[in-house]
Amino acid sequence: MRLPDFPWDLLAPYKKIASAHPDGLVDLSIGTPVDPSPEVMQAALAASGNAPGYPLTIGSTQLRESLSRWIRTKFFPTGDIDFLPTIGSKEIVGLLPTILQAKKVLIPEVAYPTYQVGALVAGAQWVGVNDDCESWPTDGDLVWINSPANPHGRVLDADQLRAIITWARATETVVVSDECYFELGWERDPVSLLQMADGDCRGLLVAHSLSKSFNAAGYRSAFIAGDPEIIGTIREVRKHLGLIMPAPIQRALAAALDSPSEIGQQKERYRARRTMLRSALDSAGFEITDSEAGLYLWSTRGEECWKTVAWAAERGILVTPGIFYGTKGASHIRVALTATDDDIRRACERLA
Ligand SMILES: Cc1ncc(COP(=O)(O)O)c(C=O)c1O
Repeated sequence: MRLPDFPWDLLAPYKKIASAHPDGLVDLSIGTPVDPSPEVMQAALAASGNAPGYPLTIGSTQLRESLSRWIRTKFFPTGDIDFLPTIGSKEIVGLLPTILQAKKVLIPEVAYPTYQVGALVAGAQWVGVNDDCESWPTDGDLVWINSPANPHGRVLDADQLRAIITWARATETVVVSDECYFELGWERDPVSLLQMADGDCRGLLVAHSLSKSFNAAGYRSAFIAGDPEIIGTIREVRKHLGLIMPAPIQRALAAALDSPSEIGQQKERYRARRTMLRSALDSAGFEITDSEAGLYLWSTRGEECWKTVAWAAERGILVTPGIFYGTKGASHIRVALTATDDDIRRACERLA
């Protein structure tokens, strides 16, 4: 199997240049949270060190109650639905085509690279598609959608999601909506695929994660929800492979889900950082496109992205070239909001 080169290695020379800045590197390249994980998660984890037995793949009774409540309250789905905790959402993005034995996987044409990797690992063909489902190939087994999207922050609205569901039913394609940035809407409130299912989740799945909204990427805590039959298949495979969320993490995940107010405070931090950074990028002559939601400003100076990456590196700022996400991203850079207030302030001063 031939996987693409790990793209971050290509950024190393620019990191070296940016790190030589007299006032140090400001790294806005990776979407990894930097603020503290919620106390409730930390306390639940600290209290859960005694875990002699194997945890349940489906999640403990406590976790299942918390997940069920969360899913019903957030996405108010009706009808038959099941769910499963996963080890981060990257696990499911990477493995789902293999688990479902997909032969042809549709992925967004500008996207998180792991959708493509997941198809390659499964030995499946992959095809990049735009947001208009009418133009999609009808002979795929699985389509990934991502709203709000990484890297460009676009949100699929209710009509687009309804059209995708209709298309999926007509073409018998499984739709998986990666909604790991769901809580981070700025100019538009994200809508979940589950909210549009009208009580019939057949062929539909959503993937959610606590990594970004709860500053919990280190916990690897996420879940999928949707079609009980598909979840059943995934559960069986994960049981056989021993892909189980560790018991202490299950407790921490339940504690977080029982404390939804934790998200609000973090969201306000990102809102303030986004406002500052957006205005600094505007003043420095960047055009910011999409970026309605999520953790990134998808920005362009109307030139080839590596040129902009070099320009930023000379100012001690590391950003991600849009080409990492597909050829259509070749004239954009992705600027992450996941840095401390101090780093965001320093980045803004340097952009000025
Ligand atoms: C679109 C998208 N999906 C999934 C993930 C994986 O997140 P995690 O495994 O932390 O849940 C990321 C991480 O950046 C992402 O951007």
